[in-house]
Amino acid sequence: MCGIVGYIGKQDTTKYLLDGLKELEYRGYDSAGIALLNTDKIDVFKALGKLENLKNKVDNASLSSSYEIGIGHTRWATHGKPTELNAHPHLGEYSYVVHNGIIENYKELKEELIEQGHSFVSQTDTEVIVHLFENYQNKLNNPIEAFKETISRLDGAFSILLISKADPSKIFFFKHGSPLIVAQGNEEGEVLFASSDAPLIGLANDVVYLEDGVGGIASTEGIEFLSDDYSWSTLPTSKQFAQKDGYRFFMEKEIYEQSDVVSDCMLGRIQDNGIDFDEIDESLIEGIKEIKICACGTSYHAGLTSSYLFERLSKVKCNVEIASEFRYKEPLLSDDTLFIVISQSGETADTLEALKMAKNAGLKSLVVCNVDNSSMTRTADHTILTRAGIEKGVASTKAFSTQTVVLWMLALYFAKAKETISSEKLQEELHALREVPKSLIVEDKLHEKTRRLAKRYLHGHGFFFIGRDVFFPLALEGALKLKEISYLHAEGYPAGEMKHGPIALADPELFTIALMPQNLLYDKIKSNVEELSARDSTICAISPLDFELADDFIKTLKTDHYMLEFFEMLIALQLLSMEISIRLGNDVDMPRNLAKSVTVE
Ligand code: AGP
Repeated sequence: MCGIVGYIGKQDTTKYLLDGLKELEYRGYDSAGIALLNTDKIDVFKALGKLENLKNKVDNASLSSSYEIGIGHTRWATHGKPTELNAHPHLGEYSYVVHNGIIENYKELKEELIEQGHSFVSQTDTEVIVHLFENYQNKLNNPIEAFKETISRLDGAFSILLISKADPSKIFFFKHGSPLIVAQGNEEGEVLFASSDAPLIGLANDVVYLEDGVGGIASTEGIEFLSDDYSWSTLPTSKQFAQKDGYRFFMEKEIYEQSDVVSDCMLGRIQDNGIDFDEIDESLIEGIKEIKICACGTSYHAGLTSSYLFERLSKVKCNVEIASEFRYKEPLLSDDTLFIVISQSGETADTLEALKMAKNAGLKSLVVCNVDNSSMTRTADHTILTRAGIEKGVASTKAFSTQTVVLWMLALYFAKAKETISSEKLQEELHALREVPKSLIVEDKLHEKTRRLAKRYLHGHGFFFIGRDVFFPLALEGALKLKEISYLHAEGYPAGEMKHGPIALADPELFTIALMPQNLLYDKIKSNVEELSARDSTICAISPLDFELADDFIKTLKTDHYMLEFFEMLIALQLLSMEISIRLGNDVDMPRNLAKSVTVE
């Protein structure tokens, strides 16, 4: 999730930009930059790493003149490594742009612009915006029309601020996909921009939370919107409240963000007839007979889920190992194995060590990761970024859903390349993938249901989360979420295995959360749950189909693909764990004994 700030006015532009970016630090970033404009002078500063590095550069420049206009950005890398060249703002000949989102059609736009004589310096999708604007401005000599034409050519998610010597008294803005707020400053003639509330608090009261497709031009004369689809609101006053976008915890915010970040994760990757990853090509699978996946915790659960998809869709043997076990078992490795590691942080010691072992054994390696420039992305041969944005809650939520989507897309990428899937089956899978963001939308009535149910599950001698096929790793994930933040004992278990011992635990104090999808082995899971219910276990069934033996029931929507049921049930499991933790008075975001990234053995 990148951060955007912008300023027009008579106050200290540089101070607002740097302070504003500081307020956006919680969103995570790997580089930052600002561009300043007055009459016809543009200055730009960019730095890798922490904002302090950027501030030092600005301070060392000991800027003489004041600037009326400025834009700033913190970048979370999605296209192109974290480097100064890739940091925003991006420059054309006489304009700068900052951007949050992903331009899906940037490749064809870049080719078109290069043919027209534009040269590019960065690896980013963003840079096409400023060259496109100047291409139109050079022809039309009308910045507003040039801006409108530019916007009309972009596909994907793009919230942007653009400044130009072509009209040094204005900031051109547009919102599509990623959030962008425009504010009437408290000072005369002041207009402020930010990608979330925090930078604006104390400096403005009246704001417009821009809707998709709304843009305009701001100057010290005021704000001219290019459409009427906007309304003024009052800014909240608490920064802490703002950083969580009004949610009680970062974990809650990140559960609700999943629909959007999974959309970002798929942007530009799902094509009409298959999957396209910028980061890899089909040579990755040449000579590969087997996939071995290694990870820890929630990332391991994403890997286990994908093993069913790789074998079912790509017909490639796939096994998954817990990294801390793998690294000491003296594993037999062969170079016809593709070694995939999965990690939100890219820094987990056990997973990193497993990756190094595979590399030393000569295997091709790929990391599915949320943090570019991490130890694992610098070590693996290839990286596919999940684009989840920073995950502040120690208990992973959006990391898991984006990892699982990336791996599902990868399974389809392989299936198409190896021709192990018919075109109609491929279309079925692509259709289901496109529906995932909808399955991840948190319905109020679902959240309310989990909040009410939570009170019944505070005291018991334990939980079993049970499922079959991909719902078994989902059961593991649900159990881990509960353990991590409520400190109650829970186990994820293959439903068919309960009769091989664990069913001895069945009694009214044993809470069983049963994942009962309609589209996959429903009759099998139903009979497993009936066995438990017959022995008086307290059953909470999660299913689109009514199940009269359930003591509690969370109804999910009827869909036509089991993976859509998977993501719907994931939301229910995450919310239930969080609501139980809240009732127990635990620190949902920072649970006891846990760290966000386990960089030691
Ligand atoms: C998940 O909720 C936990 N925070 C933990 O299991 C985590 O998934 C594990 O430590 C792996 O972290 P990584 O994805 O950053 O490698």
